[in-house]
Amino acid sequence: MAADRERDAVTGTATTGHEWDGIRELDTPLPSWWLYTFYATILFAAVWCVLYPAIPGIDGLLGHTNRRDVAEALKAAADQQAPMVDRIRALPIEEVRKDPKLLAFSRTGGRAAFNNNCAACHQSGGAGARGFPNLADDDWLWGGSLADIEQTIRYGIRSEHDKTRISVMPRFGADGMMTPAQIDDVVEHVLALSRQPHDAAKATRGAALFAERCAVCHQRDGSGNREMGSPALNDQIWLYGGSRADIRESVFYARAAAMPAWEGRLDEATIKMLTLYVHGLGGGK
Ligand code: HEC
Ligand code: HEC
Repeated sequence: MAADRERDAVTGTATTGHEWDGIRELDTPLPSWWLYTFYATILFAAVWCVLYPAIPGIDGLLGHTNRRDVAEALKAAADQQAPMVDRIRALPIEEVRKDPKLLAFSRTGGRAAFNNNCAACHQSGGAGARGFPNLADDDWLWGGSLADIEQTIRYGIRSEHDKTRISVMPRFGADGMMTPAQIDDVVEHVLALSRQPHDAAKATRGAALFAERCAVCHQRDGSGNREMGSPALNDQIWLYGGSRADIRESVFYARAAAMPAWEGRLDEATIKMLTLYVHGLGGGK
């Protein structure tokens, strides 16, 4: 190639020997400031790789790693919190609640644990969604006292735990326990209980059926029963929706959703912190 190289007449610079339609490419040397900066960056990278961790699994000569810094910072934070967490673990929950510092600490920790473990179902702030009860109002399926909430969180609802809260609404339609006409009647009665537009004749027939088949759990007036986690049907708060179609589906199939048990999965102190957090969301009794 070198033989092909000529000097460009105008600039005096060597050409690369490439030529397109009479246009020749100049072989202008790189400016030396650029070249030396480039070499310097290569050198910098090489030195960096030796001093700092750059290759997976090999710590740099300086022994500095961000990962260890983070681990140390986390451990320092945990050590700092340990006395608080130990006290929360040791004290009965009522006592924790009475101590303003422990309570504030619990609610903050509880919020973090809630976002990690509960918000997927109950939404952030416990706002709830269809099928997942709102935890921030004062309408409770199973009760809103500290003890009630702790029991729910610890053992779950229809969970795998031996001590789970449990109650199962019969599948009146799917299991053929009521005829479709009877279900229509009882649904109209539930609409009447919740003060919604309904067919009066059907609702009257439905009232008798309701007293016979539903009142054991939901009470005659539809006010529900926390012993069995049966929701009130005479308010406007619905877990699965209050339209005619929603209520019919609830009666036909029953829903029987499960809430996992957290004992064993979460630390004792975390369960207490979660209880205090949920209790403090607004509806705690
Ligand atoms: C997989 C979804 C799911 C997750 C995760 C979950 N829950 Fe639930 N939770 C439910 C369902 C469903 C119910 C209602 C069950 C029923 O009674 O029909 C419920 C009910 C509750 C209740 C009772 C509400 C009442 O009105 O009595 C509390 C309290 C509660 N959850 C707290 C929590 C906390 C705290 C966490 C996190 C540690 C959590 N839940 C995680 C699904 C979930
Ligand atoms: C053994 C107790 C039990 C009986 C009997 C029972 N229920 Fe229920 N019901 C529940 C429970 C528990 C729930 C909440 C969990 C679920 O849906 O599985 C519920 C939920 C409902 C809901 C959904 C409420 C909402 O907020 O979305 C409706 C509607 C309902 N029941 C109507 C009836 C009617 C009508 C009858 C009688 C034909 C009846 N239930 C009989 C226990 C019972």
